[in-house]
Amino acid sequence: MPTTLIKNGRIITASDDYFADVLIDDDRIKLIGSKLQVRADHTIDALGKYVIPGGIDCHTHMELPVGSVVSSDDFETGTIAAAHGGTTTIIDFATQARGGSMHAALDEWLAKAEPKAVIDYGMHMIVSYLPDNLLAEMDTLVREGVTSFKLFTAYPERLQLDDGTIFKAMERAGDNGGFIMMHAENGSVIDYLVQKFIAEGKTSPNYHPLSRPHQAEAEAVHRVIALAEMAHVPVYIVHVSSHLAMEQIRAARNRGIPAYGETCPQYLYLASEDYDDGSFDGAKFVCSPPIRERANQEPLWQALAADDLQTVATDHCPFCMKEGYKGLPKQKELGRGNFAKIPNGVPGVENRMHLVYQGGVVERGWSMNRFVQVTSTAAAKLFGLFPRKGTIAVGSDADIVLWDPNRSYNISAATHFMRVDYNPYEGLTVSGSPVLVLSRGRVIFEGDKFLGQPGQGEYLRRGTHALP
Ligand code: URP
Ligand code: ZN
Ligand code: ZN
Repeated sequence: MPTTLIKNGRIITASDDYFADVLIDDDRIKLIGSKLQVRADHTIDALGKYVIPGGIDCHTHMELPVGSVVSSDDFETGTIAAAHGGTTTIIDFATQARGGSMHAALDEWLAKAEPKAVIDYGMHMIVSYLPDNLLAEMDTLVREGVTSFKLFTAYPERLQLDDGTIFKAMERAGDNGGFIMMHAENGSVIDYLVQKFIAEGKTSPNYHPLSRPHQAEAEAVHRVIALAEMAHVPVYIVHVSSHLAMEQIRAARNRGIPAYGETCPQYLYLASEDYDDGSFDGAKFVCSPPIRERANQEPLWQALAADDLQTVATDHCPFCMKEGYKGLPKQKELGRGNFAKIPNGVPGVENRMHLVYQGGVVERGWSMNRFVQVTSTAAAKLFGLFPRKGTIAVGSDADIVLWDPNRSYNISAATHFMRVDYNPYEGLTVSGSPVLVLSRGRVIFEGDKFLGQPGQGEYLRRGTHALP
């Protein structure tokens, strides 16, 4: 079994910050100590670098079918891109077909991921329909390591569940230890506005955000927290995009309700004012919830600092702007002439750590501990991976990133590894970047050089949540 010694690094976890050496034996951390005098097969000098736990992106959609298209990153290209940016675990979503079983969906998604993933991965389950005879599936899934269920209050034709069904799923999760994740937007109001705009000939991408007002998000967040409170279960709101939605979570938490929230780089960095000229270029930024006005950004950053929001995930769901990129068919172009037909989603898995470091640590003075908490540890705890993932400790998986605070990095589609023909953060230079990425003890990125293998990522059977 190969051993690796990381010397002279500054180790950062969510709670600690100290100088020490780390000995890795095969895929786990064996020893941590000052000036370790041990022999190892490989030695890595981490002088001047932070030694941090690999990032955990708990919200991705690799090769997700949406209507007639499939998101453009598969589990190989998407996990390579993730690793390049310092993320060593993703949690993706298996989607139950309406009328189908959840286990069938899990098998389908694992078959996609298993031969391709270069980093470890878990699966959440999207529940699209829940007759009573399928409730027991939620229990077996929790026992088998799929311990979180995403439910939708939007997308009426495909995924939206009524309040009674959401409540039923929440109650069941309360009984079996499962964790409920909510996509919270008022789908019925949005559906009405979409139809109205299209009928009025308002078809360009800038009508996408107008059809999904921030109040439609805040109302649904408020409602699902009330449902969770009645069902006596914790609830996690995914992709919180607006100040008003975040305030619902903050208010609930202030009342002692176990409500948790995630936001994404697109809501922290992008602003609707920047692309509302009506051109089709706006399709790049069509995701749901939509990108909001700039005034929402600072309250979201502050909420992350104050623990009113707990995680930054990406909701990585890329679709190309132009037909033919790397042989891919028409994707965003499908919505030219009808914004409602633009496949929803933006890329981000590669740049999440860059963007949180830049915005949090460099520009807002966060501690490195908070950076690690928000990008790794909180997700590990919420989604049943801690302490195997999300920290640097004896016995933990050796998912380790050497982060160079002095390596400036220019974000661009010309150099990124994501299989998509644009980058929402094109041209932004950030002032910190990974220089070495280890996945379970193996170096898979050295700078910009990929050294891993498709299929080396392992499926993670997760435990139940340990709420931070
Ligand atoms: O636009 C988005 N967010 N696409 C991915 C699916 C989802 O709702 O998370
Ligand atoms: Zn969603
Ligand atoms: Zn999503």
